[in-house]
Amino acid sequence: MKIKKNSYILAIESSCDDTSAAVLCNDIVLSNIVANQEIHQKYGGVVPELASRAHQQNIVPVVQQALEQANVDKKQLDAIAFTRGPGLMGSLLVGTSFATTFALSLDIPLIDVNHMQAHILAHFIKKEARQEDGRRKTEDERLNDSTNKQINNFKTKPKFPFICLTVSGGHTQIVKVNSYFDFEVLGETLDDAAGEAFDKSAKILGLPYPGGPLIDKYAENGDPNKYPFPKPKTKNLLDFSFSGFKTAVVRFVQRNVKENPKFIEENLNDICASIQNGIVSILMDKLKKTVKLTGIQQIAIAGGVSANSEIRKQLKDAEERFGWQTFVPPLEYTTDNAAMIGITGYLKFIHDKLDNANALATARLKVDE
Ligand code: KG4
Ligand code: ZN
Repeated sequence: MKIKKNSYILAIESSCDDTSAAVLCNDIVLSNIVANQEIHQKYGGVVPELASRAHQQNIVPVVQQALEQANVDKKQLDAIAFTRGPGLMGSLLVGTSFATTFALSLDIPLIDVNHMQAHILAHFIKKEARQEDGRRKTEDERLNDSTNKQINNFKTKPKFPFICLTVSGGHTQIVKVNSYFDFEVLGETLDDAAGEAFDKSAKILGLPYPGGPLIDKYAENGDPNKYPFPKPKTKNLLDFSFSGFKTAVVRFVQRNVKENPKFIEENLNDICASIQNGIVSILMDKLKKTVKLTGIQQIAIAGGVSANSEIRKQLKDAEERFGWQTFVPPLEYTTDNAAMIGITGYLKFIHDKLDNANALATARLKVDE
């Protein structure tokens, strides 16, 4: 393990439709800039060609902003971490090419990061020191802060082995995490991801992409038990299937709109609450089965869908009801962000896992690769 006191890592994430750059000092995030690409909203999903172009436009200003906000000069950087995959090839290539060139020009190591591992390892970002107004403390302020008071109140650092439910727009997996670098997939979706189930249901309701956060918002004032949706069965107890769920939502909406063209607008809150309840119940059921099968009660969630307020609430309840210890990331580390790439890069850096000879963008990459 490296013993240098402070390591500064610049991290770059460009796997899908968010261009993000972060600067970390060891396991502390100094900046985490995310440029969302609004262009995809009107198309109802990510358009790969447009995503690559937007990354190209965003990447330089986003990196500049990350360095400025962190108050770190590029000459201070010890390494550059970047998302190697999985993701959209064109999008990955922008981040990979930028990171490779920048690392070469600074003559510092390049660290390739698996995006799915990064979602999970976001749980190892250290609590951040923040000002009363929510602003991140600069490094000087942190070093001068003798009380080292930390305002963020979230629990981090699950102990190995723990279970992580990774739920995003592209993935739904139950992973047993044995160490920072040892991941075992216990179950995964056979078709759509949980995020897709949210987004496709939202699309049927006429909501813009990505619809997951909007379903969450409308569900707040709705009845989650008004419209029950089916729970699909899978051969492997820990696998998921959401295509049947999606079809059930489509048929349900079409049938009701035929009878009453104003059905959606008159019942939007109840429909969203019922869809959310359906998806979250499927996820929670699988987690309960995982705990029963493995005996592991340390449960983490990761990925964009882990921002969902209902799953966060149900996990909190599970602490009291079943004695689980649950780990829920702060909202800014749920959807795609470079801070999670930075913490993974940092862990690889201090454990000398710099196998960057393979650092080519890879669209299909499993969590255990
Ligand atoms: O991890 P992520 O940012 O990108 C991928 O790697 O896919 O996840 C994006 C997914 C989208 O499907 C989005 O609708 C979903 O996360 N999402 C949510 C919420 N916030 C984001 N789904 C439900 N409730 C939310 N609050
Ligand atoms: Zn992601």
